[in-house]
Amino acid sequence: MQLLRTKTVEQSIRDTEEPEHRLRRDLSALDLTVFGVGVIIGTGIFVLTGQVAKEKAGPAVAISFILAAVVCGLAALCYAEFSSTVPVAGSAYTFSYATLGEFPAWIIGWDLILELALGAAVVAVGWSGYAASLLDTIGAPLPAAISHPPGEHGGVVNVPAILLVFAVTILLVTGTKVSSRVNAVVVGIKVAVVFLVIIAGLFFVKGANYKPFIPPEKSTGSVSGGGAPLIQVLFGMPPVAFGWLGIFAAVAVVFFAYIGFDVVATAAEEARNPQRDVPIGLIGSLIVTAVLYAVVSLVVVGMQNYKQLSADAPLADAFRSVGHPGFATIISIGAVAGLTTVVLILLLGQSRVFFAMSRDGLLPPWLATVHPRFGTPYRSTILMGAVVAVLSGFIPLAKLAELVNIGTLFAFCLVSVGVVVLRRTRPDLHRAFRAPFVPVVPALAMLGCLFVMLNLPLETWLRFVAWMVLGTVLYLAYGYRHSRVGLARTPAATPADPLSGTSPIDPVG
Ligand code: ALA
Repeated sequence: MQLLRTKTVEQSIRDTEEPEHRLRRDLSALDLTVFGVGVIIGTGIFVLTGQVAKEKAGPAVAISFILAAVVCGLAALCYAEFSSTVPVAGSAYTFSYATLGEFPAWIIGWDLILELALGAAVVAVGWSGYAASLLDTIGAPLPAAISHPPGEHGGVVNVPAILLVFAVTILLVTGTKVSSRVNAVVVGIKVAVVFLVIIAGLFFVKGANYKPFIPPEKSTGSVSGGGAPLIQVLFGMPPVAFGWLGIFAAVAVVFFAYIGFDVVATAAEEARNPQRDVPIGLIGSLIVTAVLYAVVSLVVVGMQNYKQLSADAPLADAFRSVGHPGFATIISIGAVAGLTTVVLILLLGQSRVFFAMSRDGLLPPWLATVHPRFGTPYRSTILMGAVVAVLSGFIPLAKLAELVNIGTLFAFCLVSVGVVVLRRTRPDLHRAFRAPFVPVVPALAMLGCLFVMLNLPLETWLRFVAWMVLGTVLYLAYGYRHSRVGLARTPAATPADPLSGTSPIDPVG
């Protein structure tokens, strides 16, 4: 039962409470929505739309975007409740520590690396695709060798992706805040580009490209067993793409486009009126992005036959295909600006989770040291920055977007369970926001996430299980013995607080 030892909610809050650093409660519902849209819109719409329409769903990719939004909306309600109850850095990790116990918390923290660090790497690669497309249009094409990882288009290393990750890491280490104004400008650019695609693109839509809207199911001869969705493998079906099964498989991929909304939930303690503003912010940003995604994908598949969409920069290339490279340039500029903030915020989230885990002793405490001048957890930031740089520079990441999704979906499942558990075990806690219809909503959120997970390829599941086994081994070898909660129960061995006299991380926003 040691594995399920919990850290009380009060302890979690005490650990980070420093009156002089209390976050100001001044975010409105609109601020939260803008923040959400800033984190959410990224590679999902700028890159994955093309790949998914081409390989899995055809023009019906818009349906996949809507279905993914519904699942995210259910999970968002659970996230909102948890973050308004336990408003502490560390996201789902901290929450699980307070509800489900230490081992599940470790597992979720380990799992969040997939969402945040791997997610940042995938977005950095998407960014580099658009940066290369931009350089291409201004007549300074990058050689393939330095803009692709080994094994893709004759690449050796993806230099732009590495440079982006470096730049973002420096910003995070020096504690440079992305002010809400900068964020608002970037969000403005992103949304304007999306509108541009919609409005300008409408002129080039050809009805014929929508026929058939849901292409008939087709056996994917090129997909080996491991590439087929688990659900198809479990039911012994030969792997197929397109049709409704293809739409479901596409949901599992385009889910990536919504990742980041959970970061909005972590701003609950900064909201003026969390009960009203956090759900509006979460659901509002999901609705805005879902509508934009659905419409953009409809336009893009209308402009170019889905079979011909580009896999690297589909929005820009759709305009190139209709003879308007000028629009393509504007779209690439928007994507390059917009994807930067997504990488920044995902990496920020990652360093907070690592920080919280090392503060609890589950990772070496030197990682939780805060920089004397900048007041940021610089060691965990640099470590993760280096890992993400290597991943984005050298690994072909297209397949790994699915690993990001399975990790995130799993975290959503645990959060949904956690909300119900905490309602039972700690009914007394103040919940600034309460999810409606508990336990029905958490149960639906969990079932929705599980269904989406089942539609991910078998090979993604195998990678996920391998990652979790590795995490379990590391926990037993290190965290289990060094956990501060565990050591506190053996009084003689209580270590000194590694964080005394330090400042919390600067919030973004
Ligand atoms: N939702 C973010 C994106 O699509 C992660 O890039």
